[in-house]
This record gives sequence, C-alpha cells and structure tokens, in this order.
Amino acid sequence: MRKKLLSIVGLCALCFAGCGNDCDPKLDAVKRGIDHARYQLSQAAAEFDSLPGFPRSLMPKFRVVDAYDWTSGFFPGSLWLAYDLTGDETLRAEAEKYTARLDSIQYYRGTHDLGFMIFCSFGQQQRLLGDAASADVIVEAARSLSSRCNDRIGLIRSWDFGEWNYPVIIDNMMNLEMLFWASKHTGDPVYRDIAVRHADLTLRNHFRDDASSYHVVSYNNDGTVESRGTFQGYADSSAWARGQAWGLYGYTMCYRETGDEKYLAQAGRIADLVMNHPRTPEDRIPYWDYDAPQIPDAPRDASAAAVFASALFELSTLVDDGQKYFDYAETLLMNLSSDDYLAAKGTNGGFVLMHSVGHWPATSEIDTPLNYADYYYLEAIARYLKLRGVDPRTL
Ligand code: GLY
Repeated sequence: MRKKLLSIVGLCALCFAGCGNDCDPKLDAVKRGIDHARYQLSQAAAEFDSLPGFPRSLMPKFRVVDAYDWTSGFFPGSLWLAYDLTGDETLRAEAEKYTARLDSIQYYRGTHDLGFMIFCSFGQQQRLLGDAASADVIVEAARSLSSRCNDRIGLIRSWDFGEWNYPVIIDNMMNLEMLFWASKHTGDPVYRDIAVRHADLTLRNHFRDDASSYHVVSYNNDGTVESRGTFQGYADSSAWARGQAWGLYGYTMCYRETGDEKYLAQAGRIADLVMNHPRTPEDRIPYWDYDAPQIPDAPRDASAAAVFASALFELSTLVDDGQKYFDYAETLLMNLSSDDYLAAKGTNGGFVLMHSVGHWPATSEIDTPLNYADYYYLEAIARYLKLRGVDPRTL
C-alpha cells in the first residue's frame, strides 16, 4: 500500500507536470504558503539582525526570546526549512546567523527542551550542510539531555520548576529524535536506549483508554506515578490539542527510528482519536483543547494543526492504509494555507501563520502567531511535496 500510495501521488505529479500549477489548486496553495513564508521570514530576520534574540509570538505583545527559551530553535529552523524549499541564499545566510546564536545551548542542562532548541536549528543545518561542527553540537546537546534521565525513574525530567517531584510532559516525546540521531551518528547506543525507555514509560503512564494523553505525569523517586494532570490544557482530564499533536508526532517518529510496532499502534490510535473527534471543527483546525468549554467559540490552535499535518504525512508512509492519513493531512495543509490562517505579506509581525494558542491557563499567547506553528507548517509542506514527487524549487 505504501508503494501504491507513492505511485499514485507520483502519477499525479506527472499528470500535472505538463500544465503548470494552474491545473492543481493544491500546489498553488502550497506555492503561496512558501512564497509568504519566504517574505515574512526574510523581513523578520532582517529586523532582528542586531538584536540577540528570536521572535516567538505576538500576543499580548511582540515577544522576542533569548537562547534559553524553549522556542529558540524554531525561528532558525524555519529559516533553514524555507531555504530548503526555495534555494534562497539570503535565507541560508540568515539561518546560519541565527543558528550560531544557539551555540552555548548544547551545554545547557536546565530543561528537556534541548531537542526543540538544538535539533530544529543545528539539526536542520546539519541535514542541509552535512557539517561536522553541527554534528558535534547535536551530540553534546544529546549528552546534556541524557543527563536529565534519572536511572531509577527511567524518564527524562522535563522541568525544574513547580511543585511536582519529577514532572514529565507529553511534549518531551519530541526531544527524543535528537537522541536517536546522536546514537546513529556516534554508534553509541546510550542515547537511543534512554529514548526507548522514555517512550515505553510514557506509553504506559501518559495515556487514557481513548488514546488521549495527560499533559504532565509526575513520578516518585521509586518510579511510581505521583500525579497526572495538566499545565497548559483546560483541565487535568482534558485533551489539550497540542499535547495530542506532540504524542502523535513523537510515536510516529519512534516507529520510524525503531520499527517497534507498539509505537506505530499508538500513533494510529492517536490519529484515529484526532481525525474522528466529535469536537473537531469543519475545517479540521482544532480548538486549543478538545474539551474547552467555549467550543464552538474557543480559539483554534494552528500550531497543533501544523504538527498533526507533518506527523500524518509521515504516518501515511508507514502503514498499509496510509491514504486516509495523507488525505487528512492534506486538508489541514490546504486550510492552513488559506487566508483564514496564512498571514498576508507584511502583517502578523513577520510570522507566517495566524491563530495559535500558547498557554491559555496563564492567559498568555491566545490567538496569536507562534514560531513553532510556522516551523511545523513548513515541515509539513516539505513532506507533502516530497510525497507528491514535486520539487518545491520548481513550483
Ligand atoms: N512545549 C510547550 C508547548 O507546547 O507549549
């Protein structure tokens, strides 16, 4: 089926090859998304050139963060993805400049977010340039991240703040990709072993019977669960949209890296939950929490939609019945690329997408652009075009 899906999309690409994008509104939509991203990111990169920070979001006011913020890797990462999609050498120069600002983060041991910070920036640089210096940074960051794994508990500790004894959040699944990469690169299984143990215990303790996940699970020192709840969702028992997205992306990636069927099964369960959820709106861009009491008037979370889209494109290649995931992800991508979510050039503070939610319980970043929405939107575009056999630079 995987081969069949690829041959169908390849055939489509051939059909449209002779008549330009006029014949294919979906390619037109994506081309527009790339074009807007190129413009917006170039403007933002130039604007922040002399400031030692990274644009993060817009609401309630423009938020520029330093290298230690969990989102610091996404702006450089988006520049790399936009460079890859366009071949624009100015974007590449900006990407290198902003990535270099994160150099010291490889030694930082104060957060689990090192995967986001380093693998989205130096990881993209290494993928595109193949440079040894980036590889060294990633391996050092993997070492720093591994230092946060308590051997008795068996998971990487997410945060050092708060009342929890040992908090682990579902988002942490995203940081494991860097560990898998470090083991492949160095030949040392230590990073991969930590990632696998973390994924296994998260699978055991983070999920409810309907495949939705808690945001925060805290552990006692003997490895038993201290508490299950939320920090950024509506309620301890609710399904916070981005949390579901992190879980889907994380287990899809874990299956790619290990071939372990239980990860694939979990990704499939999360995908089915999301795709069939009765409180998903018509355009499929989720409300910020599936249990938000303000639904249908609750704000949407474009960042969750972008992560879903990117993950589902990958999942579509890993299973026999992948077409349903591809179709759903394509719908998400088309709607994110519409005027409802894609910002007009010169607006939106230089961000690409509108309408995400960062941290509702803290009344922070409500209905705002977010730099990680942009990053996963661009990654979803790249995955989509690859599956369709279309070279983005020829669009
Ligand atoms: N990792 C924090 C968030 O998703 O907002």
